[in-house]
Amino acid sequence: MKKIIKCLASSALLILSTLVFANDAAIEAGKTRAAVCIGCHGLQGEGKDAINGQPAFPRIAGQIKDYLIKSVNDYKADKRNDPMMSAIAKGLSDSDIVNIASYYSSLK
Ligand code: HEC
Repeated sequence: MKKIIKCLASSALLILSTLVFANDAAIEAGKTRAAVCIGCHGLQGEGKDAINGQPAFPRIAGQIKDYLIKSVNDYKADKRNDPMMSAIAKGLSDSDIVNIASYYSSLK
């Protein structure tokens, strides 16, 4: 019985560390892919206020991952319309979107 519990406990740990590792890998991949977002949303996704008639760019750092995934998918599917964001979103694959969302949601 003790052996079974030990075995279960170590499997749980293994699964947990695999999940943590998979998320780290997504964040790293997203960080690289996020190069295309920096020009508008800022180096750390901090966003920019509207200045001199330039549009404002919303803050995307620290937002909930699922919200980021949904927003980008909505632009991609033309459910949410913004000419700049739609063009960008259409160039992203599903895994790009998940990775980028993991990266920005990991920032403060
Ligand atoms: C050419 C400028 C530009 C680039 C590049 C750009 N964005 Fe945006 N983004 C915008 C603008 C403008 C908005 C606000 C549009 C609106 O009002 O719906 C926006 C909105 C968003 C939103 C919605 C935020 C909210 O609070 O609802 C998300 C998420 C987002 N962008 C993610 C990204 C990601 C991820 C990238 C890189 C893959 C990116 N953007 C690249 C201009 C840009």
